[in-house]
Amino acid sequence: MKEHSAKLSILKYLSDGEFHSGEDLGERLGISRAAVSKHIKGIQSWGVDVFSVQRKGYRLAAPMQLLDQQQLSELVSVPVELISVIDSTNQYLLDRADSLSSGQVCIAEYQEKGRGRRGREWVSPFGSNLYMSMYWRLDAGMAAAMGLSLVVGVAIVEALEKMGVEGIKLKWPNDLYFEDRKLAGILVEMSGQAGAAANLVIGMGMNLMMQNNQQAPSNNITLQGITQPWASLSEAIGADVIDRNKLAATLINTLDSALREYEDCGMTGFVSRWNRLDNFIGREVRLIMGNKEIKGIAQGINEQGAVLIKTSQGLESYIGGEISLRPSV
Ligand code: ATP
Ligand code: BTN
Repeated sequence: MKEHSAKLSILKYLSDGEFHSGEDLGERLGISRAAVSKHIKGIQSWGVDVFSVQRKGYRLAAPMQLLDQQQLSELVSVPVELISVIDSTNQYLLDRADSLSSGQVCIAEYQEKGRGRRGREWVSPFGSNLYMSMYWRLDAGMAAAMGLSLVVGVAIVEALEKMGVEGIKLKWPNDLYFEDRKLAGILVEMSGQAGAAANLVIGMGMNLMMQNNQQAPSNNITLQGITQPWASLSEAIGADVIDRNKLAATLINTLDSALREYEDCGMTGFVSRWNRLDNFIGREVRLIMGNKEIKGIAQGINEQGAVLIKTSQGLESYIGGEISLRPSV
């Protein structure tokens, strides 16, 4: 964190969207103009668009509302730790699982190594999206974890609906979609032994104001390199301004209550809630499992959280971490 403190201080000044000269920033931080310029390059490598204009100084493409530890702590019912720059919020909690209690949250502005399922990358530019994870100790053990990622997805979409956001759907097993494009992903990871209680980390990345023409973070990923169509919540809301602290707090509280509910009731009652929101229900899809592919009409999920597909052989159910669902082009 310390190594990033100068960059974070500069970003705080720039977050108002106004011009700030290198000289002024340098004076405020007690560093040279050359050092400011070096830090600006570092900020750009996090995926932030900073413009530099001669004799005027530096300016962000748009004002940026930074996450605020104090506001978040006031608004949520669980302990939350804001670490602005991190490798992965999921990894941070997994590394500390033994000393955590259920509900503990880590949230970040930028992930150097954000990840999705099966080691894929989660593109995580600074300040424009949400990246958060919650630790949960699940006494029901690892076997119950599959249902949990479905339950979390349903709870998050319902919370967005309560805020008036329409048109957000679910793709089995772990994605939120808007207009057939990926808006958010949920990643449940665990440590623990089969049969014993599981240490779970439930991570969520949601695009809020990511722009198509935004610079990519420099960890070798371009936004264009996201290998599938993606969306931002600002499109669903129809506005470019989102109160990130309030939204993050609402989503954290939603996660907490969804996990409590899941602990008490399991998947009971969730199937119909999922099916109402299923992006592909009734549509032709492919299930990809290694080099095997199954085609059929998506029929939602069953009580075990398996995806149901009507094929030429009849109604089939599939469950497991290695399965990818795709529209049938
Ligand atoms: P499945 O899990 O069903 O195979 P998936 O292709 O969405 O679906 P995941 O592992 O769930 O795979 O998610 C990681 C993928 O998400 C990446 O390979 C990339 O294509 C995409 N991705 C990465 N970052 C983002 C982002 N910020 N917004 C939307 N999509 C992203
Ligand atoms: C997916 O679609 O495969 C899941 C993406 C999950 C991304 C989030 S961002 C916060 C948390 N930390 C990570 O490294 N990944 C998850």
